[in-house]
Amino acid sequence: MARRKQVYEGKAKILFEGPESGTLIQYFKDDATAFNNKKHAVITGKGVLNNRISEYLMMKLHDVGIPTHFVRRLNMREQLIREVEIIPIEVVVRNIAAGSLGKRLGIEDGTLLPRSIVEYYLKSDELGDPMVSEEHITAFGWASYQEIDEIMSMSLRVNDFLSGLFLGVGLKLVDFKLEFGRLWEDEDMRLVLADEISPDNCRLWDVKTNERLDKDRFRQDLGKVEEGYQEIARRLGILPEAGPRDMRGPETMQ
Ligand code: TMP
Ligand code: ASP
Repeated sequence: MARRKQVYEGKAKILFEGPESGTLIQYFKDDATAFNNKKHAVITGKGVLNNRISEYLMMKLHDVGIPTHFVRRLNMREQLIREVEIIPIEVVVRNIAAGSLGKRLGIEDGTLLPRSIVEYYLKSDELGDPMVSEEHITAFGWASYQEIDEIMSMSLRVNDFLSGLFLGVGLKLVDFKLEFGRLWEDEDMRLVLADEISPDNCRLWDVKTNERLDKDRFRQDLGKVEEGYQEIARRLGILPEAGPRDMRGPETMQ
């Protein structure tokens, strides 16, 4: 890796300064954490798969009019993104009960929800990402009323589109997490989808067998984590038969 300035390191990604102002390079690590860093492992090849899966999904969303921070893939583990001011809220959309929803409300895993439910969590490792309401978000100024309305409607559009896309390849989109950022262009600001969309932050179950193919394989020690991610990439048509090592990317930037 060339010598360049690191601007942020998270649990699964590193951000470096980009080649021109207003851009960043997003590097996908193989590290996986769960339960707010209590569990950690290295899943060989995960970063390569997530880079590719997130690129694919962000490009598809762009095609249907959802603005995103994604610019282009640079190589196996890196993509060029627009620099945004991240809104410190994790937006979770749920279609089927799983994970913390089941535990919190005593609903059996796999129960189809009466409608899609949007939840907000404050991005704070120290506090363990507590759930917050629109009232907290607007009162504390993490986002404005107008922004939260836009975030809610964009999240539901993302859900509609991705649910259909995954269903088309035999996968149920159980739930997922999104992050949004403010993109400044001169005096103008618009909200765009940021971070990543990958099996690290989606639950994806096989339509017929309900087999978990996402990060729950790691969280719940189900084994074959990389194979689950590979299967998702394969069904999306972005994994060559020979496996992820065969994935060719555009040339690395100078
Ligand atoms: P949960 O059931 O644990 O609340 O997770 C809901 C969805 O959000 C699930 O698809 C995993 C994703 N998620 C993240 O991406 N990051 C997180 O820190 C958490 C807790 C969940
Ligand atoms: N990403 C979070 C963590 O590292 C939680 C999770 O995905 O389960 O703790």
